[in-house]
Amino acid sequence: MFAVDVASRLIHVLTAIVLLGGSTFMLLVVLPTLQSSDEATRSKIASGLRGIWKRYVHAGIALFLISGFYNYFKAMPQHKGDGLYHALIGTKIILALAVFFLASALVGRSAAFEGMRTNSSKWLTILCLLGIIIVAMSSFVKIRGIP
Ligand code: HEM
Repeated sequence: MFAVDVASRLIHVLTAIVLLGGSTFMLLVVLPTLQSSDEATRSKIASGLRGIWKRYVHAGIALFLISGFYNYFKAMPQHKGDGLYHALIGTKIILALAVFFLASALVGRSAAFEGMRTNSSKWLTILCLLGIIIVAMSSFVKIRGIP
């Protein structure tokens, strides 16, 4: 199972790099660049970007869930009675679900979330901040190890 453990960690960390890195690039570089374009150009480029980025978002959510639950079920027996571990990982999973919702709404087509897409810099900021909190919690849990 050693190879599967390594593959699962690699997939989890690479997915975090690609999705959080891509979202941060979108927030800090792409959106400010689009601000200087006219409305027609902006919406053409934004919908082109969304169409491509959506594939990575959907694949990334699937990879996060598969590798994350694998990591979780592997770690559980080592953390029996470790309340802090379960509190942190439980909170992390709930925050990750919120991030998945925001990411899906921002690349989706549902009319219900059009308001979020119009105000994408606000929601992308929240998504990136939640992503950083999740990485911080995961890093703490990893370095703290098995008490
Ligand atoms: C936004 C989504 C997520 C991000 C950015 C994220 C990020 C990370 C990072 C950076 C690590 C540390 C990896 C390492 O150093 O080995 C980690 C570990 C982990 N993640 Fe995630 N993750 C996400 C979603 C999930 C989900 C959905 C689950 C569970 C369903 C999950 C479960 C875990 C577990 C169990 C660990 C190992 C913790 C330990 O050391 O015991 N993650 N995650």
